Amino acid sequence: AWSSARGAEVIAAHAHMEGATLPILHALQEEFGYVPVEAEPMIAHALNLSRAEVHGVVSFYHDFRRAPAGRHVLKLCRAEACQSVGADALHEHACKKLGVAPLGTMGGETTADGAVTVEQVFCLGLCASGPSAMLDGKPIGRLNRARLDTLLDRARA
Ligand code: FES
Repeated sequence: AWSSARGAEVIAAHAHMEGATLPILHALQEEFGYVPVEAEPMIAHALNLSRAEVHGVVSFYHDFRRAPAGRHVLKLCRAEACQSVGADALHEHACKKLGVAPLGTMGGETTADGAVTVEQVFCLGLCASGPSAMLDGKPIGRLNRARLDTLLDRARA
């Protein structure tokens, strides 16, 4: 769980680096599993940036989670090759089935029971076998509704 003391240590450990913002954000995500909003003013202070600048960086990169993830993480590819074989419809289907808001341009959504986080990614390097996804780090190709339903049901069981 987030602790501002531990957060301050992580920030201090990287603050001296050239272009420290990204290394700090990665380190925070590694430590806490997400980048807590409370860390933004601390990073801004350590690097002499405005809070808006730090927030802009966090928002720009799809990698950074804004809240702790669920027990399972489903990453759905929404890059071009997968889009051309129906990734958007699958994504919509997954969000509807899980009862989470469809994703905007960043971040992920977690089910109310904390079982599954849905995130979007932009290319998993499996373009030839799209639509592609990754469930808990395991790549999945040729995804379709039926397979997605099975995976999600199993993840929530
Ligand atoms: Fe989806 Fe490359 S576009 S894996």
